[in-house]
Amino acid sequence: MTTLPPSPLPRFPADFLWGVSTSAQQIEGAVDEDGRGRTTWDAFAAEPGRIRDGSDALVATDHYHRYPEDVALLKELGAGAYRFSVAWARVLPEGAGAVNKAGLDFYDRLVDELCAAGVRPVPTLFHWDTPLALEERGGWLRRDTARRFAEYADVVAARLGDRVDRWITLNEPAELTLLGYGLGEHAPGKRLLFDALPAAHHQLLGHGLAVQALRARGADSIGIANSHGPTWAASGSGPDKSAADFYDLLLNRLFADPLLLGRYPDGIAEMLPGPVADDLDVISQRLDWYGVNYYQPTLVGAPDGDLPSDFAGIEVPPDMPFSVREIEGYPRTAFGWPVVPDALTELLTSFRERYGDRLPPVVITENGCSYDGLDDQERITYIDGHLRALHRAMEAGVDVRGYFVWSLMDNFEWAEGNAQRFGLVHIDYETLARTPKASFHWLRDALRGQRA
Ligand code: BGC
Ligand code: BGC
Repeated sequence: MTTLPPSPLPRFPADFLWGVSTSAQQIEGAVDEDGRGRTTWDAFAAEPGRIRDGSDALVATDHYHRYPEDVALLKELGAGAYRFSVAWARVLPEGAGAVNKAGLDFYDRLVDELCAAGVRPVPTLFHWDTPLALEERGGWLRRDTARRFAEYADVVAARLGDRVDRWITLNEPAELTLLGYGLGEHAPGKRLLFDALPAAHHQLLGHGLAVQALRARGADSIGIANSHGPTWAASGSGPDKSAADFYDLLLNRLFADPLLLGRYPDGIAEMLPGPVADDLDVISQRLDWYGVNYYQPTLVGAPDGDLPSDFAGIEVPPDMPFSVREIEGYPRTAFGWPVVPDALTELLTSFRERYGDRLPPVVITENGCSYDGLDDQERITYIDGHLRALHRAMEAGVDVRGYFVWSLMDNFEWAEGNAQRFGLVHIDYETLARTPKASFHWLRDALRGQRA
């Protein structure tokens, strides 16, 4: 049973940016076309057993060929902005060195199409699809990758900067560090546990160097998309509280502190490669806005015996200094993630308290849910609830400038494959037909209401 949300939504500021998000590896397909190089996710998905439903992203939603149809959907939705990602390996097939003009041409066409439709392009330069050639030389564990990333940023900005005025450097370095290098559940499939931390530092350094490269090309609206969520302690006991603090440090502070305060949380710098003081100046350069991807809070307690715990479908090994507990008493998405809109208000107000005026204006760069079916009333309830929660944070004084739904369309949900559907638009993976869901029509009407 779902209850339809009360309408209408509270009114957001007239210049609030309304958008939807996707990423290259999750939608483009065409992995062997026009000179694209291989990515870590191409290789990872080809390994047996890595993707839960056995799917791969070779075709994905075929956006590479169907982008005009997808841009027409954005226009119909009334989206003010579209957050997509540029595939590094299309632009520089080896990650560095020779530029592949045909790869850049694709983003050039996409940006033109968006501009013609009146939708502002908001590219993310890196959404987890590391060029395989770079990974084979150490990937983000290696400092050199940060420099290569900045060179790539320069190439993209040189080509698109005349029409793009908002840039996102990285998507969720926390997830790539934790899931990709720490636990091996995502590409590149390394299980280094805390030895994964250099990948965090090098991504942050890559971010800072890319900001410099973008500024040198005249960019004046740059952000990063970090995943954050409140961490709740399983009880008031000392061990549970300190386990929750540690988890909060890993998810929320490990990336936000260096970006916003210019320092790592206590205890982290010692685990990083070499002295980092100079890097921190690069990392903490002024951001024009701070992107938050919010999905859910996490309930954390002290380590709980010898069994792994479960975080959003990811197995957390029992030798971690915390265990993730089940959150009871809330509805769940098809993925099993608890639906807790109030935690978005909590997250944003607590961020404001923690970072004060070091926190630039916030943009919600992702928020969304996995549900099946075309009549997705639960997704409507989810988005509606989170928009109201966002509005409450704004009333409490948090400066929020935009909101992007994850995702425009169903897509390749990483280790889950095609089984988890986050789209406003349904994809039939046999025919690749696009069908707007009930939530698409609801959001279109809600956006019309905001403009009326
Ligand atoms: C999301 C998290 C999620 C995790 C596990 C990430 O992409 O940001 O919210 O819990 O994946 O799949
Ligand atoms: C990622 C997306 C992903 C979504 C849902 C975010 O963490 O940026 O790529 O599809 O969560 O898990």
